[in-house]
Amino acid sequence: MTTAAHAAHAAAPAAAAAAVHEVTCSAPVNIAVIKYWGKRDTALVLPTNSSLSVTLSQDHLRSTTTVRCVAADEAGDRLWLNGKEESIAASKRLRNVLADARRLRRAAEAADPALPALAELPLRICSVNNFPTAAGLASSASGFACLTYALHTLYSLPLSVSEASRLARVGSGSACRSLFGGFVAWEMGQRDDGADSMAVQVASETHWPDMEALILVVSDARKDTGSTEGMQQTVETSTLLRERIASVVPRRMRQMTAAIHARDFDSFAELTMADSNQFHAVCLDTYPPIFYMNDISRAIIRLVTAYNRLFIKPVAAADAAGDSAPAATSRGYRAAYTYDAGPNAVLYLPREHVTEVLGLVNHFFPPPAAADHAEYFGRAASAFLPAVD
Ligand code: DP6
Repeated sequence: MTTAAHAAHAAAPAAAAAAVHEVTCSAPVNIAVIKYWGKRDTALVLPTNSSLSVTLSQDHLRSTTTVRCVAADEAGDRLWLNGKEESIAASKRLRNVLADARRLRRAAEAADPALPALAELPLRICSVNNFPTAAGLASSASGFACLTYALHTLYSLPLSVSEASRLARVGSGSACRSLFGGFVAWEMGQRDDGADSMAVQVASETHWPDMEALILVVSDARKDTGSTEGMQQTVETSTLLRERIASVVPRRMRQMTAAIHARDFDSFAELTMADSNQFHAVCLDTYPPIFYMNDISRAIIRLVTAYNRLFIKPVAAADAAGDSAPAATSRGYRAAYTYDAGPNAVLYLPREHVTEVLGLVNHFFPPPAAADHAEYFGRAASAFLPAVD
């Protein structure tokens, strides 16, 4: 399987007289280990740096979307998100995705008059997330990936998965990476029209079978500063971001790709944590400063750091690459944390350490029912999410 998004059923002809053109797809979230933060073109969603993520493969964090063509006289597209109708007119990104998909279908119909005329028919779109929306759990990534894949299937678009990822990118940058399973890079590209800014699979979902992801839900409240708005404030005001774009991310992309190919967990962990730290540092370097992590998030960082330090073996040689992370200076990492634009932690770790780490998390951050000070600890629950089957 090359795609992460699945089509559950496609364009099922109902009766000879009236074919039903409807598709239901499901797509998972992805969690970046080299973060995307900043756009060089906000309309086309072209990033200021490449990024790399892991697509989570189990059923806990997914969007499921149905798209259906209706009769021409049922004028206008309509969308329901988690059971509530949302305005398509209010979302330029959504309108752009629909317009791009229709443009491609129109071209296909012009080239092959035998194709049913779907491009001009109104659409009904129904999407549900099985997790909190806009809480820093990448709901826009799975949502737009899922919509894109559903439209791609409904319209039988003649695009590779990477090419289709450009449609998802226009909806939400990180969404382009959820079209693939496994380890996925979003190559920033160089062109002004965005034709080369797309996702590519670095390694499939079967490549690193004992890699697991734990999602520690610190809070499922909507975040104060959305990613789209926050990253542009960073682009406008952070000098640290310029340094990150110019010299840090290009090297880390190479190092992370090599670490994944070699299944080198030490390098993977060092780079993942260093990049999460730097992402939150550029948020702090933004004016007004953006705080996504809270006290619980920071306590989890301290716990993971202390846990790793019980096992890592310092190596005398300094890191020749000069990265801020102590890359290649120690071995024995057991877990890596990363945080997106919210307080929730994602831990990547080898399967053999999951039970121990869950034990530690539940000891230090007991679920509310068992906690003496539940209101202080917040909703520090944990969900076990294998990153691969
Ligand atoms: C911190 O993809 O949500 O999760 O392109 O404006 O929709 P837009 O932003 P979005 O930003 C995600 C930022 C991040 C890092 C990442 O996923 O790479």
